Amino acid sequence: MHVLHVVGARPNFVKAAPVLRALKNRNIRQTLVHTGQHYDRNMSDVFFTQLEIPEPDVNLGVGSGSHASQTAEIMCRFEPVVLEQKPDIVLVYGDVNSTVAAALVCSKLLISVGHVEAGLRSFDRTMPEEINRIVTDRLSDFLFTPSEDGDSNLSREGVPREKIHRVGNVMIDSLVQFLPAAAKCSRNGFSERFALVTLHRPSNVDSPDNLQNLLSAIIEASEGLDIIFPVHPRTRQRILEFGISTHQLHLLDPIPYIEFLALQSRAVVVITDSGGIQEETTYLGVPCLTLRSNTERPITVTIGTNILVGEDKEKLIAELRNILKGNAKKGAIPPLWDGHAGDRIADILRG
Ligand code: UD1
Repeated sequence: MHVLHVVGARPNFVKAAPVLRALKNRNIRQTLVHTGQHYDRNMSDVFFTQLEIPEPDVNLGVGSGSHASQTAEIMCRFEPVVLEQKPDIVLVYGDVNSTVAAALVCSKLLISVGHVEAGLRSFDRTMPEEINRIVTDRLSDFLFTPSEDGDSNLSREGVPREKIHRVGNVMIDSLVQFLPAAAKCSRNGFSERFALVTLHRPSNVDSPDNLQNLLSAIIEASEGLDIIFPVHPRTRQRILEFGISTHQLHLLDPIPYIEFLALQSRAVVVITDSGGIQEETTYLGVPCLTLRSNTERPITVTIGTNILVGEDKEKLIAELRNILKGNAKKGAIPPLWDGHAGDRIADILRG
């Protein structure tokens, strides 16, 4: 059996690492294709090194672009690779443009597709990732879901039961593996009590008013807590372009995986618009305030420590005060988020 993996953006690397490892342990032939959607050293190479992912066999080097041009470029460059490699199955991860582009190419070539992190829905089609999730799931032959809501979403959309495999959360596999290394990271001079912030969704950072309002609300609500803000390149560009003052924040470049895990596990609160961070904080039991009005990961709200605050400044301030008073929501770890999702996927593929 020959499995070809397609990865492109930072969260893909974290999800693919445990699956690559589990298949390697079963001596299954593998090929790794990096689309090059993320290309900065600290958005890509560092993740490969820390997560012990082998060098990609092929790098398509697509880089940035509009959604249409990036997706189309990945398709054009991926098609000859997959025709040459002739894999038995192609695994795609998450909901980024690389995911949907590879799924489209394979399904037209009648090559089997497995979608890792299938079935998640925000029911908000203004999010590009929601389109990527819907299309990828529609085209996939193996749908590996992280939680029960994924199964129900897919069943409701008419996906046959036998295609759906609830395997748990691969991102948590990486967390479980690398948390001991994170615990050894130094504090780098940060204070004991800090809030950790990440922001990169176009809806939050592409408008000057939204970005300014969100950052002011975070500063006001944090009541003197240090605010550590590793900045995604898109957000950094916008901050400069809009001339937003950031002197009350500790702005950092994007942080490597293990150091970021250390920051998450030690934060008093995490304030984010990321998908994966909602899950990681749930596993770690760290309070998470999500700057979105919906989530494709509802289990982090129903079972975990996540609270959706949307763009509501008053809610953000109220929830943050509550956490700082020691009244944070207590969460639990969802079923099958146990560090073995990659093994379950490998066992299913081996048949
Ligand atoms: C992508 C995913 C998003 C995911 C995020 C994780 C899509 C539609 N979006 O968003 O779901 O949460 O990755 O980080 O696939 N840039 C650099 N260096 C890089 C990569 C990007 O400078 O290595 C800059 C470029 O200016 C680029 C912008 O960031 O235009 C956005 O990058 P892109 O890959 O288009 O989307 P992300 O915002 O990273």
